[in-house]
Formats: sequence, structure tokens, C-alpha cells
Amino acid sequence: MIGVLNKGISKNREDENDMIQIRPLSHDQSVPMDLLLLADPSTEKVLAYVQSGSCYVAFHKQDMIGVYVLTPLSQQTVEIMNVAVKESWQGRGIGKQLIRHAISAAKAAGFHTIEIGTGNSSIHQLALYQKCGFRMASIDHDFFLKHYDEPIYENGIQCMDMVRLSIVLQAD
Ligand code: COA
Repeated sequence: MIGVLNKGISKNREDENDMIQIRPLSHDQSVPMDLLLLADPSTEKVLAYVQSGSCYVAFHKQDMIGVYVLTPLSQQTVEIMNVAVKESWQGRGIGKQLIRHAISAAKAAGFHTIEIGTGNSSIHQLALYQKCGFRMASIDHDFFLKHYDEPIYENGIQCMDMVRLSIVLQAD
């Protein structure tokens, strides 16, 4: 009985996820700071990379429920600087859709490599990125101690180092 009920719920979620549209933020829409600040506590840093990158937003009907920002680091490499899903929509596969969309957009734009960075304490994000094909590339030791004023804790772990992950999109 529980199995049947769960199948019903996941079918509804699949139908709901089919109704999600991801598209570039249009010029008449303001940057969704409330969503972006879920992923990065620094308003100053968010505003800086949004300006030099492309912001994509996910809509369910008229409701903006997710965002990601793709910022070129060089001609070859692009980074997902921010990805966030509205709290009431988290855990329903939208994050995965956004990351997959970012990978496709980077590929379509001709980039060789896509990167993403996250904290050593961001266990959920490390799982999500690896499920989307990212491999660990390097560790930026003490990044969060050097660049953020307040100490950050997640999952009972202090966030100190940035784990950098990447996917090679095109063979040389
Ligand atoms: N604990 C551990 N892993 C979890 C989890 C949890 N509570 N919830 C989801 N996951 C993992 C699962 O591995 C899941 O894979 P599965 O579908 O194979 O089970 C995977 O994450 C994808 O989950 P999804 O539902 O697509 O993620 P989401 O829609 O919640 O979006 C975030 C993920 C990180 C974007 C979202 O939680 C968020 O906005 N968080 C706040 C902002 C943030 O931290 N951004 C990233 C900064 S580096």
C-alpha cells in the first residue's frame, strides 16, 4: 500500500518536473537575490559574478523556483558560480535539472571544461555534482577562511576548504 502511494507521489513529482522551464533571465527581470543568497552569503560577491556571467532561471508556471549563474573563467573554461532552488522545492530533482541544463548550455557555447566549487562541508552538493558527472579536480585550502568574514558550519563540519570539481566537455 505504501509502495503504491509512493509511486503515486513520485508520478506527480515527475509530472510537476515536466512543467519546469529553464531559460535565461530576461532583461526586464530583476536578479533573484533571495535565491542566489541561499547558495552564497555574500551579496557583494553574488552581484560581481552575476554581472560578468549569464543567469538562468527555472519557472514552475509563474513561480521562479531556481537559478544558476554561468560565468566564463577563460575562453575554454566556464564555472557554475551559483545554483539554488527555492526551499519549498528542494529535494525534488530541480537542482539536478539545473546542473544538467548548465552542462548543456556550456557545451552548446563551445567551452572545453565546466567547473564548480563547493565547501568541504557541503555533503549534499558534493553528491549532486558527482551524480551529474563532475569529478574532483583540486582543493583550494582555507578558501572560506580567507574570503568570508563569518565562520560557516554545515552538517556539523566547519566549511574551510573549497573542493573544485570539473567535467571535460570536449576532447582536444
Ligand atoms: N542529503 C543528501 N543528499 C541529498 C539530499 C539530502 N538531504 N537531498 C538531495 N540530495 C542529493 C541526492 O543525491 C539527489 O540525488 P538523487 O535524485 O539521485 O537522490 C541529488 O542531491 C539531487 O537532488 P535535487 O532534488 O535535484 O536537489 P535540489 O533540487 O534540492 O537542489 C541544491 C540542490 C543544492 C541546489 C539545493 O538544495 C539548494 O538550493 N541549496 C541551497 C543553496 C546551495 O547550497 N547551493 C549550492 C552552493 S555550492
